[in-house]
Amino acid sequence: MIRIGVSGLTGMIGKNLITQQARHREAKESLKLIAFTRRESDTSFLQRYEIECRRVDYGNEESFSGKLEDIDVFLHLAGLTKSVKPSGYYRVNVDATAALLGALSRYGKGVKHLIFASSTSASGPASSPERPKTEEDPCTPVSHYGKSKLKAEELIRSSSLNWTIVRLPIVFGPHDYDMLNMFRIAKSGVITLFSSPQDPYSYVSAQDAGFFFLQAVQNERLYRETYCYCYDAPLTGAQFYTMVREQLGLSPDYRYIQVPRWVAHPARAILGLKQRMLQRASIVNPDKIAEVATVYWVFSNSKLKNALGIASIKENGAVAETVRWYCEHQLL
Ligand SMILES: NC(=O)c1ccc[n+]([C@@H]2O[C@H](COP(=O)([O-])OP(=O)(O)OC[C@H]3O[C@@H](n4cnc5c(N)ncnc54)[C@H](OP(=O)(O)O)[C@@H]3O)[C@@H](O)[C@H]2O)c1
Repeated sequence: MIRIGVSGLTGMIGKNLITQQARHREAKESLKLIAFTRRESDTSFLQRYEIECRRVDYGNEESFSGKLEDIDVFLHLAGLTKSVKPSGYYRVNVDATAALLGALSRYGKGVKHLIFASSTSASGPASSPERPKTEEDPCTPVSHYGKSKLKAEELIRSSSLNWTIVRLPIVFGPHDYDMLNMFRIAKSGVITLFSSPQDPYSYVSAQDAGFFFLQAVQNERLYRETYCYCYDAPLTGAQFYTMVREQLGLSPDYRYIQVPRWVAHPARAILGLKQRMLQRASIVNPDKIAEVATVYWVFSNSKLKNALGIASIKENGAVAETVRWYCEHQLL
């Protein structure tokens, strides 16, 4: 049994990783997930799957003592995707990664592979939709979130461990309450956004990302490289709304109102003020608008396909499953 320590397992991608493991017999029989979770975290979902939890404090390396010694692989999923203040991204995505690396070097002598869930926000957008951005292109993050993930990547790359950095694009799936808004907008039939319905976006489902992480655990061919994990074909807003509406049994027609991109600037200021007053972070925040106001979030997955020796990475029913999950949970 390979013992995998996972940070952020209580999160959206973590939950999908757990359900994917439960679905795949080989992964169930050969891998043991152990959650490295903060003291204040709600672990009820993990308990349902009988996952062992080890409580740690990312501000204190010593809190990992006695908890990493028997771990074979570490999957670092913990991260902050929305924050009231920019400093929050650096504190969690950079400082917590530094603390984890410190703890791994002190207590994780048996860890053979460290996998880090990064983001295409660290690479920044492509310069044209015809040329998806590759891992070798210079990184041009446009948000604090992206800059903090890039700094975390740099820390990971400087580690003497066998690391793999996996950049994820837009991720959707069950347990996701951020992308849920996009599914609701699609259902409403009146879509008001900054982007054009023809803007392409690379994307992947949390179900496929979860299963990919399980497969990556023992794959030495992925060592000491950075990869983007996304589907072969990007999706335009128009395709996404139509797909969701069809899944819901609605007519594919919708009304699209494109908000001019200059509106992003006052919108950022107003949202920033509102969130600071309420002290509540939302996925629609000034940092996210900095990304939404930019185009061509399209990425190449060729490097990963070459490393895995596979011809394609395709969406195969994950959108439909996500719509079903939202409907079953009366969210859509
Ligand atoms: N969702 C996306 O669209 C997307 C896209 C690209 C990349 N990613 C990356 O994938 C990873 C997982 O994303 P996700 O969507 O599953 O995120 P999520 O649902 O927000 O969960 C992230 C987890 O990180 C941990 N965490 C949160 N705040 C923390 C803090 N202050 N200090 C330490 N740990 C903290 C929590 O785990 P505990 O409570 O158990 O400690 C939380 O459950 C993240 O690193 C994210 O940057 C996500």
